Amino acid sequence: MQLPGPQLAVLEAASATEKRTIAQLAAETDQEPTTLTGAAFELAEEGFIEIEEREEQSLDLTAEGRTYREEGLPELRLYRAARETGAADAPVGMGEVIGASGLEGGVVDIALSNFARKEYGKIEAGELSANPEADPNGDNEAAVLEAVGTGDASDVDPSVLDRLVDRGLAERSRRTERIVTLTEDGVTALMEGIEAADTVGRLTPELLTSGEWREADFREYDVEADADQVHGGRTHVLRETAERVKDVLVGMGFEEMDGPHVDADFWINDALFMPQDHPARTHWDRFALSEPAEIGELPEELVERVETAHREGVGEDGEGYHSPWSPEFARQLALRGHTTSLSMRYLSGEAIGDLEPPQRYFSVEKAYRNDAIDATHLLEFFQIEGWVMAEDLSVRDLMGTFTEFYEHFGITDIEFKPHYNPYTEPSFELFGTHPVTGELIEIGNSGLFRDEVLRPLGVDCDVMAWGLALERLAMLTTGAEDIRDLHGTLADLDFLRNAEVSY
Ligand code: PHE
Repeated sequence: MQLPGPQLAVLEAASATEKRTIAQLAAETDQEPTTLTGAAFELAEEGFIEIEEREEQSLDLTAEGRTYREEGLPELRLYRAARETGAADAPVGMGEVIGASGLEGGVVDIALSNFARKEYGKIEAGELSANPEADPNGDNEAAVLEAVGTGDASDVDPSVLDRLVDRGLAERSRRTERIVTLTEDGVTALMEGIEAADTVGRLTPELLTSGEWREADFREYDVEADADQVHGGRTHVLRETAERVKDVLVGMGFEEMDGPHVDADFWINDALFMPQDHPARTHWDRFALSEPAEIGELPEELVERVETAHREGVGEDGEGYHSPWSPEFARQLALRGHTTSLSMRYLSGEAIGDLEPPQRYFSVEKAYRNDAIDATHLLEFFQIEGWVMAEDLSVRDLMGTFTEFYEHFGITDIEFKPHYNPYTEPSFELFGTHPVTGELIEIGNSGLFRDEVLRPLGVDCDVMAWGLALERLAMLTTGAEDIRDLHGTLADLDFLRNAEVSY
């Protein structure tokens, strides 16, 4: 019988009585583990060997962990330098201690924060004092680092190990170990004698030009064989979702808006009948610009009409806010807190001239808010802004539009909750059910623009409008539970590599 070289190697190195791992066979035969794995699967198919699979958890130091194992943990180096410079008796200037420690660059911050965390001492007003009681030789993280480094972390404290993993000094990974044993058929085949067949695993230019490929015996592909994962680039799930949103809205007859990320408060707030003393307009919520501090030009007549709406209201029984309104504030520049500023530019005729109903516009653009970051909030996020201008619109039209839009993403259970916005009446928040946690999460805000917004803009018919959160939609379509997994410095690369956008 003839078998390809790698298969013969596996068969000869395997044993009927002793379990051997592919790694052992690779070391013995001097062949690549991946080649042998492929060969082993082919032999198993023929019934010559049996393969057993074991999930192995491995634990290794990262490059940073290996460096610290050699040079010492940065906080320990800092502590030792602090002792040497006398910081156990009286506080010593930070510069002096850091200089004595030999620490440089980003490692200094790492040293300082862990130094404080482990109570090796205190840092106050630029001076560092060392805790005379602390014992750097008893540092449990250093001990576990050493244990992992020597490959025997079998009885280390798991919480200390977790800490090293969190610090990025050690990492856990999983791999499948394959163990082979010869079957009876395998033993018989070996005894009957096997020759190495000259099979070709790869078609080369030489084989092609020489014509030898005509006679060659090609090895079969095993499309089910495990192979190393190679990660190429791919479109970010958020971008993919954004592109899909654009396709859906264009399919629904919408045109796209664009405009400045930094805009005048006039377009971001005043045009929306947001009183100038509204809490969202304070520095708590807004990223203001100091340079340049104000917009060059605003359409004067429009500014006057907006100011009148704020002061006196619109229509016969309209009431204004009777609160202060200053044109200077309206001119101030800030990062837009919502993309509704674009809707204002378009509805007013400022962006592309006066528009006659019916019209439908949208944008999928970034908005910026000085929020506290958590599982559902980031400082910048994408809004799916949109509006429809037509005669006689109702809440039914609004709900129907959302139902149709979200159905394109397989989301058929959105819920509506009455809400308040200074610029829409009625207003509705939208909620969707998270596919993994089952929780209701807010996915958007909407309503019909008030007369106080539309009349100054010169719009005589109805306009329904909304701002939906792209990240929240992506959480529903990908199952991501934390917005920070999607983008930002904490993004989960594994998730981004594998996430599928369902629609
Ligand atoms: N600007 C609102 C927000 O950011 C969304 C919205 C737009 C609501 C238009 C109603 C009308 O939450």
